[in-house]
Amino acid sequence: MRITVTVDGTKYSDDVEPRQLLVHYLRERLGKVGTVVGCDTSNCGACTVHLDGHSVKSCSVLAVQADGSEVTTIEGLARDGQLHPVQQAFHDNHALQCGFCTPGMIMQSIDLLADDPDPDETAVREGLEGNLCRCTGYQNIVRAVRDAAAKMSGGAGPEAERVGESQQVAGGGN
Ligand code: FES
Ligand code: FES
Repeated sequence: MRITVTVDGTKYSDDVEPRQLLVHYLRERLGKVGTVVGCDTSNCGACTVHLDGHSVKSCSVLAVQADGSEVTTIEGLARDGQLHPVQQAFHDNHALQCGFCTPGMIMQSIDLLADDPDPDETAVREGLEGNLCRCTGYQNIVRAVRDAAAKMSGGAGPEAERVGESQQVAGGGN
């Protein structure tokens, strides 16, 4: 089947197998290997991208279902060499260890913040419950999302409130 899809701002037209998953189309056809596969059970969220502005697990969507749509991957977030605020917040808050879950976490976090620009810790944890971190770095991930929320709304964010805590934060944990 022929599909036309805009991915990270570029339009592509390709013939795909009806059974091809969107994640495989992105990675294998378009080379968007920033979107990763972490499971075969639709549980981990590592493959999360935005489809017409909303997060989806791209291992659970067929490429043909993206026909006519806009897809944004982790590779399409930075602008003019500047990281997206959520990417920057993950960096600033040491919200990754191996980094495998990070693309999906960031894409899901952006969707979460679009729905709730000022989530408390519980809301962040609930919003990210479909994304698993095998390094169990959830504490810093939650901090990063709240930091991004504050900065995106013009505030200083929890990162600024934690001056002096860096040793404790850098130890990782849950
Ligand atoms: Fe898609 Fe795990 S690879 S949810
Ligand atoms: Fe390793 Fe999350 S940082 S899986």
